[in-house]
Amino acid sequence: MTDLETKALETLQKNRVEGPNFWYTRPGGKYKHQFFWDSCCHALVLRHLDPTFAKRELHSLFRFQEPSGFIPHISAHIDPWLSRFYWGRYGSSGLIQPPIVAESVWALYEVDHDKAFLRELYPKLTKYYEFILTVRDHDQDHLFSYIHPWESGWDQSIEWEFAFQGRQQFGRQWRTRFWLMTLPFRRLKWDQEAMMRTARFHVETVDGNVLLALNLSAMASIAKALGKGSDASKWHEQAKQVEKAVLTDLWDGDTFVDHYLVGSMHDIIKKRTPAMFFPLLLPSLKKEQKKKLIAHLVNEFMTVSWPVPTAAPSEPHFNPTAYWRGTTWVNVNYYIIRGLWQQKEKELAKDLLDLTTRLVTRSGFHEYYNPFTGEGLGVNDFSWSTLVVDLLKRAPTSV
Ligand code: GLC
Repeated sequence: MTDLETKALETLQKNRVEGPNFWYTRPGGKYKHQFFWDSCCHALVLRHLDPTFAKRELHSLFRFQEPSGFIPHISAHIDPWLSRFYWGRYGSSGLIQPPIVAESVWALYEVDHDKAFLRELYPKLTKYYEFILTVRDHDQDHLFSYIHPWESGWDQSIEWEFAFQGRQQFGRQWRTRFWLMTLPFRRLKWDQEAMMRTARFHVETVDGNVLLALNLSAMASIAKALGKGSDASKWHEQAKQVEKAVLTDLWDGDTFVDHYLVGSMHDIIKKRTPAMFFPLLLPSLKKEQKKKLIAHLVNEFMTVSWPVPTAAPSEPHFNPTAYWRGTTWVNVNYYIIRGLWQQKEKELAKDLLDLTTRLVTRSGFHEYYNPFTGEGLGVNDFSWSTLVVDLLKRAPTSV
């Protein structure tokens, strides 16, 4: 094991939570529960260091899955009754997070080839992605929606300011405001169809839908490995439809944008955030699109010492120390680096991977970092910042 791998494993073990019927890695410090996309990221690292625990962690994610297929973004295994107070329901939240579980399950299989694990999770995964593709794609345009900023995983991003137009307190009171936004959902008893019909925040995001396309492809690989040929073709077809919708409908000629839909209103959110780079992960990204994205990345985002900041420094509300508003996050870099590999941008990928590795080596596994100084901010010993280990394992020797 390399030094970095040893430190990563120590961090993940420090945050380990085990009970009679659950196993997970908490994100770190103040977070005590299991978070959906965090756990999927942990599994991507643990598959190299402790695959048995990675399987248990993914398994625990399904504990509060509903018959509809829905999986919550927070599972409160240790004190499920307290959720009644916070969420008005037992055991978990009623929101989703980026749908990245199939990729983690498939990546784990690529390391340990445990078909029984695939076989056990496949029906649950199927229900989950069918839920995302139907209930969460209300208008059936092959782009699913988030209906709360917390669902995006980029909680306080400058992208969400449109929803709070004219209310300057967004920066200071966001946590209360976001919690208040869940109250109508409690009144609807977390009925997802009704939530989709009535939500005042309703966004089809670039990053979320790129991740969906990748995960539908992972579903195709899982189905194929299980000998389910017609399922595999169906998932593959769905992945292609989402990919096409992102590349055509979310492209504005210069960059990728989010769609904001409420009632009959249809608007675009055009903010300079690294969400625009997620389509680098898509195999059929057009040459012209790639050229523009690379130019934006180099000229607007790589100008800081420790990229990639979660908002371009040119954005009026860019803040190098604030949560998702300009700080650098390892999981965002993770997808951008993989996207650069996909696009055969060898040099740029290498630079960004070197910088990200140096950042976690000198500052430790923090929740996020100041893009100018590299100072670690937020929670320390933060679990998903160990993703660098998976990147180093994946790094192609030649692309
Ligand atoms: C914050 C992040 C979210 C993450 C959670 C736990 O809410 O914005 O993406 O899943 O913390 O780390």
